[in-house]
Amino acid sequence: PRGWITLGIETSCDETAVSLVQDGRKVLSNVIASQIPEHRKFGGVVPEVASRHHLECIHQVVEEALTKSGKTLKDIHQIAVTYGPGLVGALLVGVAYGKAMAYALKVPLNGVHHIEGHLQANFIQYPELEPPLLALIVSGGHTHLVKMETYGHYEILGKTRDDAAGEAFDKISRALGLGYPGGPFIDEQAQKGNPEAILFPRALMEEDHYDFSFSGLKSAVLNYLNSCRMKNIEVSIPDVAASFQKAVVDVLVKKTMTCAEDQGLSQILLSGGVAANSLLRNSLQETCKLQGKTFYVPEMYLCTDNAAMIACAGYHDYCLGYRSGWDLNAKASIPI
Ligand code: KG4
Ligand code: ZN
Repeated sequence: PRGWITLGIETSCDETAVSLVQDGRKVLSNVIASQIPEHRKFGGVVPEVASRHHLECIHQVVEEALTKSGKTLKDIHQIAVTYGPGLVGALLVGVAYGKAMAYALKVPLNGVHHIEGHLQANFIQYPELEPPLLALIVSGGHTHLVKMETYGHYEILGKTRDDAAGEAFDKISRALGLGYPGGPFIDEQAQKGNPEAILFPRALMEEDHYDFSFSGLKSAVLNYLNSCRMKNIEVSIPDVAASFQKAVVDVLVKKTMTCAEDQGLSQILLSGGVAANSLLRNSLQETCKLQGKTFYVPEMYLCTDNAAMIACAGYHDYCLGYRSGWDLNAKASIPI
């Protein structure tokens, strides 16, 4: 359908986001109310606080997204809403709101998988992009290697067995006395440090599967910091940050490239909040170039949680004939 307008809603974690997208690829408006300052004092996301915030501000975010797009409720053809994975209480706010909207406007409703949304953020940035492809999705909540064979056909080839990559950045940042969320602070410190200063473990790097594990690395960094303290050795924050970051990125890049090679895929996508990491972006880009693969990464506002990616994924699901019923429910974890 041409001129089709999807209103996307995303409330899976700590951002209340609403976006209007035309024909699945053109962003008309993209509004995000972030709760980061609220959660900062706790050093992480507090689920109940997140739910309450979504409830308080979702209406205003919808109004703003409509105003900025220049459209009215009458122009909307479809509602797409994240129904999982994520924090259930947070997801429920978006799902309930999306259902009510779709019912009142008499338009179709599509529940969207959050990871599918992250992957499809690239279709907004690169309107000509088409599957097959391999996506590395790295954020505070997920570390996934997803193969997209064609629209609607996804396969998770690898994922973290414990902490997500972003979660590791956040925990190490906290241990180093830096801020929350930790990624940008570690990234900044790492620019001044030596990535070879401390040899941290690269878990599962040589195994013949594509799963990740970051909790051992986290413990290794914490142990290193403790032993320095016990021995009264001064810790170089830039060196720890650089060595830790290098360990994470080495594994992410190695696994992604091996997976792409094994699967015969030549297009590699990066998405999720950790895609902001300068070393990861550069390393993956360089390695892709060396190995003759095409590298795609969206602008930052499309990498972190947003509703444009949800509208985009919901549009493609709709085109494939998928519809959600009024019994659509929030789910903490769901297969893709
Ligand atoms: O996608 P996102 O905004 O939210 C989730 O769905 O989790 O990702 C947030 C994560 C946080 O863990 C944050 O520390 C990380 O992305 N992050 C970074 C950088 N910027 C944000 N990690 C590494 N380097 C960065 N520059
Ligand atoms: Zn996310």
